[in-house]
Amino acid sequence: MNILLIGSGGRENALAWKMAQSERLTKLYIAPGNAGTCLCGENVALNPNDHPAVINFIVEKNIDLVVVGPEDPLCKGLHDAISNDSRTASVPVVGPKAEGAQLEGSKEFAKAFMVRHNIPTAGYKSITLTNIAEGEAFLETLKAPYVLKADGLAAGKGVLILDNLEEAKSELKEMLSGKFGAASNTVVIEEYMSGIELSVFVLTDGESYCILPEAKDYKRIGEHDTGLNTGGMGAVSPVPFANEDFMKKVEERIVKPTVDGLKKDGIEYKGFIFLGLMNCDGDPRVIEYNVRMGDPETEVVMPRIESDLVELLYAAGRGELAGKKIEISKQTCCTVMMVAGGYPGDYRKGDIMTGFDKVEGSILFHAGTKVDGNGNVVTNGGRVIAVSSLGKDKNEALAKSYANVDYIQFADCYFRRDIGKDLDKYLK
Ligand code: AMP
Ligand code: GLY
Repeated sequence: MNILLIGSGGRENALAWKMAQSERLTKLYIAPGNAGTCLCGENVALNPNDHPAVINFIVEKNIDLVVVGPEDPLCKGLHDAISNDSRTASVPVVGPKAEGAQLEGSKEFAKAFMVRHNIPTAGYKSITLTNIAEGEAFLETLKAPYVLKADGLAAGKGVLILDNLEEAKSELKEMLSGKFGAASNTVVIEEYMSGIELSVFVLTDGESYCILPEAKDYKRIGEHDTGLNTGGMGAVSPVPFANEDFMKKVEERIVKPTVDGLKKDGIEYKGFIFLGLMNCDGDPRVIEYNVRMGDPETEVVMPRIESDLVELLYAAGRGELAGKKIEISKQTCCTVMMVAGGYPGDYRKGDIMTGFDKVEGSILFHAGTKVDGNGNVVTNGGRVIAVSSLGKDKNEALAKSYANVDYIQFADCYFRRDIGKDLDKYLK
């Protein structure tokens, strides 16, 4: 089978690594990929938002399956374009059409969906400049902290959590006046949920689903969860507080009603659903939906999947997931993300990376890397490389990752040394 994988991050390297293990794979193309994905297949310089170019590529290379990694091309209708062209209409695509991608692309859409289908989430009100007074009145009914979310995609920066009511009211005005551009023309005000977060991943064909391993990621740049938000500095799977009882609640109260809700609403959905959840005293509630896998969560989820990923993805894309079982390793997988100094602010690109040959017992998933004109692997993004390891428990897995992190060298590199430490209290 020939597969086209769209994306260029650590998530796509992890997906490509797992796909490359499948006997069903003939040729894997990654567009545009990075210095790690080219070890699993062939990188191709295709712009995912240039739909005619993607369609021509699918035809030319006899692609049998398209897997879309990031949300942006999905929200911009890549799946719709492939399905609407008579030459590629029958090619299965993993990743929803633009309508389904609104689960991530519009917070208002996602909240209304959850309310309509009785899926546990924070209470909310959706506000525009025309009903700002209603927004202020709603804030007055809430207790601090106050949660304000730009409705649209805002590169992970559109959520504000504020301790002070007056500040919340003034930020509401600023957001509606264009603080995050058109993304905040509508603002969702939410009740604050306290608890501990985790991510649960589902692969669905719109009828049936498989639940993938859950994971916890570490979003802040600084140790002990301090400083600015990043794309993710590390991850651990499994999550010790996500026990059987909790995961049963997730399936019954969230996964099933989500898949059934899409169907009831007439939204065709083939792809991943990423549930950002809060464990509120043992009860799961949805913080957000994403329409893709998480990054760096994929870098700990893929190594734990024992089943053939290509078979599962092909079945999901073709609507044939019913009866498929996913085998998951009991081992723990941890990843440590190495980032460029300065990230998530300004950082340099183009620094030479060395030490790959010394790494033993870990899997390297490249994120922001590329091969330069001289054949060197160089940094090419804020998050540079994820060092993932499997172990019999969290500590064994982390010890392997941290030992190998020390071999990988590039100027100004930074990583967190406390990934997974907060989970010790759940591991007796
Ligand atoms: P989101 O982009 O919706 O995932 O929000 C970003 C982050 O803000 C989440 O990962 C949570 O840490 C936090 N957050 C969002 N919504 C809430 C909420 N209603 N209550 C508490 N924390 C929240
Ligand atoms: N790690 C969080 C995300 O992928 O959105």
